[in-house]
Amino acid sequence: MTNSTPDTETTVAASANSTQYGSLPNAAASPRRRPMSLPRLQDMRERGEKIAMITAYDATYAAVADHAGMDCILVGDSLGMVCQGLHSTVGVTLETMRYHTESVTRGIRRVQGSVWVVADMPFGSYQESPEQALRCATVLMQAGAHMVKLEGGGWTTATVAFLVARGIPVCGHLGLTPQTVHALGGYRVQGRADNAAVLKQQAIDLANAGATMMVLEMVPVGLSAEITQAMPNCHTIGIGAGNGTAGQVLVMHDMLGINLGKNAKFVRNFMDGAKGVRDAMVRYVAAVKDNSFPQNDVHAWAD
Ligand code: KIV
Repeated sequence: MTNSTPDTETTVAASANSTQYGSLPNAAASPRRRPMSLPRLQDMRERGEKIAMITAYDATYAAVADHAGMDCILVGDSLGMVCQGLHSTVGVTLETMRYHTESVTRGIRRVQGSVWVVADMPFGSYQESPEQALRCATVLMQAGAHMVKLEGGGWTTATVAFLVARGIPVCGHLGLTPQTVHALGGYRVQGRADNAAVLKQQAIDLANAGATMMVLEMVPVGLSAEITQAMPNCHTIGIGAGNGTAGQVLVMHDMLGINLGKNAKFVRNFMDGAKGVRDAMVRYVAAVKDNSFPQNDVHAWAD
């Protein structure tokens, strides 16, 4: 019989050291981070620590993001474009969102399970009534989400209050709302001139209804900073909204420099100079925290 022990040991040692492609240590070997929660997000806000969020759609990338120190993961309906090849997010279904939310939450449990997971309510899953929104939000919460996100202001305020009263944390989404891109006439900056006051009031109404997080997408720098100041208990997460928000989000494929179209102005490719995907995410988290990303004059729009 041949002595196979040395080979086996070598193989195990080699794979344990093999981080070239971003292999992650298992949960037991990972540094412990306290799980993110609403009180911890509030605490970060009060201390002025910025919130770093990225989108993720599958178990492995979600685990890498968790391991890289991300505070929040958004299972965004942008998956319609980056995973499914759709032209917009309008065609994404609740079943698809459930599938990806489950994949992400399984993945983060394999590493640490520290990040706060927000899942997008897809188009058509909350427009009908607050009761419909509750049924659909339940599907995503049961898939492991900690919070659901829905787009728009005004009529959504009652729905947000309905969900929050029933124990579901809610993130709003104002400015450029991709599910209504056809009504908005394209992917354009929102909240300029007369619309600025309307957008600010919608944000405050959503926060008063109980929303504890709010994505501000393609909103001018001054307005997004003003909204942020006005809502100390609702944490604004900017994308193309300047650096005066409580945190930032980017679509993962954009920040890794891989997408099927033209990069938006608000994107930075964090793979530039990075050793790998995890390193790019570590750099993104650091840049959000030290406020070096985004730069108002490069990645955002003036009022
Ligand atoms: O679906 C998504 O990825 C989003 C972000 C662009 C904020 O909503």
